[in-house]
Amino acid sequence: MTTPLSKTVEPTVSDSLPFSPDSIGSSLNAPRVLFLDHTGALGGAELYLLDLVRQYPGDCRVLLFDDGPFATRLENENISTRVLQGSSQLLNVRKDGGIGTALTASLGLLQLVGPVAREAQNADVIFANSQKAAIVASLAGHWARRPVVWSLHDILTADHFSRLNRWAAVTAANWGVTHLLANSKATEDAFKTSGGRTPSTVVYNGIDADDFPPLAPDRIQSLRMELDVPLNVPVAGVFSRLAPWKGQAVLLQALPAVPDLHALFVGDALFDGDTQYVDELKSLARDLGVVDRVHFAGFRSDIPALMQAVDVVAHTSTSPEPFGRVIVEGMLAKRPVVATRAGGAMEIVTHGRTGLLVSAGDASELGRALSHLLSHPEAAERMAAAGHADARERFALDGMVQSISDLLRRVVDEETELNPK
Ligand code: UDP
Ligand code: GLC
Repeated sequence: MTTPLSKTVEPTVSDSLPFSPDSIGSSLNAPRVLFLDHTGALGGAELYLLDLVRQYPGDCRVLLFDDGPFATRLENENISTRVLQGSSQLLNVRKDGGIGTALTASLGLLQLVGPVAREAQNADVIFANSQKAAIVASLAGHWARRPVVWSLHDILTADHFSRLNRWAAVTAANWGVTHLLANSKATEDAFKTSGGRTPSTVVYNGIDADDFPPLAPDRIQSLRMELDVPLNVPVAGVFSRLAPWKGQAVLLQALPAVPDLHALFVGDALFDGDTQYVDELKSLARDLGVVDRVHFAGFRSDIPALMQAVDVVAHTSTSPEPFGRVIVEGMLAKRPVVATRAGGAMEIVTHGRTGLLVSAGDASELGRALSHLLSHPEAAERMAAAGHADARERFALDGMVQSISDLLRRVVDEETELNPK
């Protein structure tokens, strides 16, 4: 269990937050970890980190470069957290930015190295959970003489990142990251293809199956009423943040060919540049004449229940998904899933047995897969049951936490052997 030390969420640049003396060495064998993330938003990578720190068996702290709902969730869980606000330039830099934004970003990132290195003095290892965090950690780790583990959640290809951005990520990793944790084989392969030479291990996200208790039929009905979704219609749900590459538009385009099917979109635009996509989706629904079959629920925290209020969970990403927590969650909710045949989704779903895979961006194929599941309820139920059993076995949260704790222990031991203090 994480030792709750103090819950500090306050904006400051220079204050250091020492680990409390009583807690140092409090848990037998697990190294003390400084977790770093650049964002305060609640994306999949942050939900993964939340699960990890909640269950991490040793002493740990979370240092964020921005405030927001992620910081609040950590604070509510009594996890020792600090928001270290950097320059606004740093926080405004986009993933696909060019050379000008990259220079501004570099200056912002450099300002964070000192405070992070000071904080790291009280930890055995730095765990970076995002690309900006990894760049800062690679420098701070050298300074503080601490090993750095980067948990990479992104596929480093042109689909997602500019060339400069990929170069910066791989250079930081090769130079200053001790070990890379990839969230899928697809993510690890793309890292290596981009020139990454850091030793790496694939650890899939684990999801707590206990968060998915079966929902009583009357609760499902009341959820549908709350969402304004008719009770007697088939519904396909997409449970992803609203962003063009998450492909909500593909489900909209599939609707005209699947009479009666409604679409439920759960999620909101979380990152800069995605806000206008919401308006685009609404106007696409009008143009396609399906507006009365489309429902937007916004960001919700009751995903396990909402998934049980739909007939099919659809994953529609148009670029390879690095992992895809929502696919595993759909399986744990015992719903048939249809996912895009690319990236991590292919490592999660066995086509025809635990779900269906369709080509990225192909609305006709998606429509056919949805029609098939709706018109063959017994086959859909069999697939959902097989998916459920598979997800429980292969994506257990305890297993993920154990693998990561073991890896951190090994990294720290090897570092101590190489550089005795
Ligand atoms: N999610 C959520 N509320 C929403 C929409 C999504 O909590 O309204 C969660 C979802 O349950 C999943 C995560 O956000 O755990 C998204 O993770 P995923 O790996 O699927 O994609 P990402 O957004 O990280 O690329
Ligand atoms: C990222 C990826 C997503 C993955 C999540 C957790 O946000 O986009 O595919 O599931 O991290 O690893």
